[in-house]
Amino acid sequence: MSEISVFTDNPLEIRYVQGLDLLDICKQYGAPLYVYNADKIIDQIEQLRQSFSGVNLKIKYAAKALTNLSVLKLMKSQGIGLDAVSIQEAQIGLIAGFKPSEILFSPNCVSFDEIQEGVNMGLRINLDNLSMLENFGQTYGNSVPCCIRLNPHIFAGGNAKISVGHIDSKFGISTHQMKEIVALVEKYNIHINGLHVHTGSDILDPEVFLLGAQVVFDAAAHFSDLEFIDFGSGFKVAYKADDHPTDITDLGKKLTIAFKNFCQNYGRELELWFEPGKFLVSEAGLLLVKVNVVKTTPVSIFAGVDSGQNHLIRPMMYDAYHNIINISNPKGKKRTYNVVGYICETDTLGNSRDLNEIRVGDILAIKNAGAYAFSMSSNYNSRFRPAEVLIIYGEAKLIRKRETLEDILRNQVEIDV
Ligand code: LLP
Repeated sequence: MSEISVFTDNPLEIRYVQGLDLLDICKQYGAPLYVYNADKIIDQIEQLRQSFSGVNLKIKYAAKALTNLSVLKLMKSQGIGLDAVSIQEAQIGLIAGFKPSEILFSPNCVSFDEIQEGVNMGLRINLDNLSMLENFGQTYGNSVPCCIRLNPHIFAGGNAKISVGHIDSKFGISTHQMKEIVALVEKYNIHINGLHVHTGSDILDPEVFLLGAQVVFDAAAHFSDLEFIDFGSGFKVAYKADDHPTDITDLGKKLTIAFKNFCQNYGRELELWFEPGKFLVSEAGLLLVKVNVVKTTPVSIFAGVDSGQNHLIRPMMYDAYHNIINISNPKGKKRTYNVVGYICETDTLGNSRDLNEIRVGDILAIKNAGAYAFSMSSNYNSRFRPAEVLIIYGEAKLIRKRETLEDILRNQVEIDV
């Protein structure tokens, strides 16, 4: 593993990725720009594998975090499968070279047509409500296996919007409805090949995963043909210098023991699945933005950049903290800034940040822009989405072009008015 797992906010360390100067890359492809470091992604995969080396681990990358084809191909090259929540994510996965059987299809609140489409594509199916299970049984009987997503009734996650395993969440089938699940499975002789739990995102405490595991272990007694247990994801990553990520090593040790015990009682060794998004790509990504304006008011200094909530919605949507570094002026005197976007809303990317002096034209690196940054971006204010660059094998490769006005107008139908 390389030395990049340690959190740093040293501008000189951030500025060079695999020996390449981000300022040069920015000059070549223009700002704003998403840049992803393949080495960091590979490191994260390695860390997870090492922590779970005692079990038959399968990693299914949660494509929703970052769906660029080249990133998916990188995952594929590392022996990773895919977690898709829409037919489109699965289709992109197939284009990237995944076999249908390597893709777990875990949609929520979709019509049964979409489930059938998934079956026709040969995907592995994960169902999270009773009426779908009934439809599934009626349609396929014992001929197509499926996994069941359970709602473990655990409240966990970085904030309420990303907590999805509590009793009032729309996700999963309540463990209180186990009787109904079992009745349907028996009625239609459905082959349940896996059980799944996912309680939320940005979960720090390994105990939460262990609690969720116990819920699935208890439920497993009802199903004799299981092949895997999918523990979802939600590992917390570091967003700032004093931030603690989920201790994957500790979780690996504890869950391995619990899982082995479970398998022994179950009578067979099952596969242990995780489907990380953030853990694999969040820290691998930077959003590079250029400073348009430095504006001093009676109370603060704003650094206005050529990006905003259209490229990184997380600070606005979840009050997420993203570290910001001035990579153009690493030795500049520290001053306090509000880093804001160019969108006609208050799109503060970083409030009251001590940064090396910012000058117009400087490039700021916004960290943790690998997960849920591009994938949640928009054309709000009719702004273009930036290009994406993957740094791989010591080279910076363009993996998505910057949008143009044609992209924005493509599907508009102009009528005479
Ligand atoms: N599996 C399931 C069933 C999920 O719903 C999710 C995320 C994941 C795996 C991946 O979780 P992760 O490893 O990324 O925590 N947009 C929000 C996060 C939403 C997560 C949705 N589900 C954010 O930017 O914080």
